[in-house]
Amino acid sequence: MNFTMNRQLIEGYIANNVINPLVLNSDIELAIPFIPDKSLDLIVTSPPYYKQRDYEFDGQIGQEQTPEEYINKMVDIFTRLRDKVKDSGCFFLNIGDKYGKKGEMLLIPTRIAAELQKRGWILKNFIVWYKPNHMPSPFKGKFTSTWEPVFFFVKDTGNYTTPDYYFNLDAVRVEHKTNDKDVPDDLPRIVSLEDYEKVVPILEKYKKDYSGKFKDQNENLGASPGARASVNGYSYSKQRVFKPTNDNEIEIIMYLRNARELKGISVAEIDEALGYEHTAGHWFRLDRGGRSLPSPEDWLRLKNLLGFGTHYDEEMTKMHYVLQAVMKHPLGKNPGDMWSILTEKTSKPHFAIYPHDLVRRIIGAACPENGIVLDPFAGSGTTGDVAMEFNLKSIMIDASTEAIGIMEESFEHALLDELRKVRSKNDDKELMDMF
Ligand SMILES: C[S@@+](CC[C@H](N)C(=O)[O-])C[C@H]1O[C@@H](n2cnc3c(N)ncnc32)[C@H](O)[C@@H]1O
Repeated sequence: MNFTMNRQLIEGYIANNVINPLVLNSDIELAIPFIPDKSLDLIVTSPPYYKQRDYEFDGQIGQEQTPEEYINKMVDIFTRLRDKVKDSGCFFLNIGDKYGKKGEMLLIPTRIAAELQKRGWILKNFIVWYKPNHMPSPFKGKFTSTWEPVFFFVKDTGNYTTPDYYFNLDAVRVEHKTNDKDVPDDLPRIVSLEDYEKVVPILEKYKKDYSGKFKDQNENLGASPGARASVNGYSYSKQRVFKPTNDNEIEIIMYLRNARELKGISVAEIDEALGYEHTAGHWFRLDRGGRSLPSPEDWLRLKNLLGFGTHYDEEMTKMHYVLQAVMKHPLGKNPGDMWSILTEKTSKPHFAIYPHDLVRRIIGAACPENGIVLDPFAGSGTTGDVAMEFNLKSIMIDASTEAIGIMEESFEHALLDELRKVRSKNDDKELMDMF
């Protein structure tokens, strides 16, 4: 169904339980005011690239006179869309570059990303989407372009700290490829201070196993804990048991600040009393970059000095040993920021479509359950297809009536398939009930 733009429509869709995409035929610049503020969990999109393709309608983006004009328009649109994203929301932008008249790269994607960073978007990743089946190029004077950028932004909420955005890495982990052996079974990952003596002989045993060329060499082993472990054996590091969250840290720092105020003692005086220079200040700072909690020893010394209670003693001073080793995550490894994804063949040639697998990884990681996805340049509706696979609502906007036609057809088919599934499940139930 093709609706005329109206605010109630979008609000109604958001409030409703239907997951079928809401398809809206509109110029994105006209549509933005109709999207409620802070209503979206995720924007995933690939706008028309500069002078890449003529979509054959007035008001299309991409045909601007100069790259600057195009960049300004993109930046303006994504700046305005920022207000529509929840504070926990994410934004993924796939955009390609263009060569100028002298064959020079115009660096359009990077210029847009740099500009968006100044306008309330925090760039988390510059992802390389590598296309293993990229087109060959006729040019002999340069290497073929084989990839496109995908920028991953989160919303800068104006706070001092990193925003608390939704991101579920576990949902998109990929298989481990290396044959690295995991750590031996008889070395526990965590050992209490009391039990540490029991693992010392086991550590010795693994030390003796190694007879390679780096034996007894302690330098230039590289930074990899795996490499170091194979030469020097395994080791444990003594660490605080308590792993404070952001809120925990702030709570403890406020406690320390309060105690210092009551005592009427300056940071410089604390430094002097404990024999430090420019150290104690960090224990009273709230900004993430500048704050740090005192070590267990310093905590006890500070306690003597400021005379505070035992409230956080256990958290701040209890230690244990943690095995130093790279362990494979049981759910697979982080996919990294170089994604090798085949382009898809399509029967919809007008819309430079992006692959479903690209969107699957993005939606899988960056949209919470019951979240809402927006694609402001929806084209053939790849984003909406994937949102439906994930049982998520999506708003698909495109100014081209042809694009709208394609989406309506494919989403309607999907809806019919869904209904058929529901029907057959009910049929099964009816059958079961008969017996
Ligand atoms: C690269 S295509 C998107 C393809 C899409 N990712 C897919 O997989 O099918 C860009 C789309 O932007 C649309 N478009 C161009 N100018 C627009 C505007 N001013 N407002 C909304 N959509 C526009 C075009 O019609 C086209 O469908």
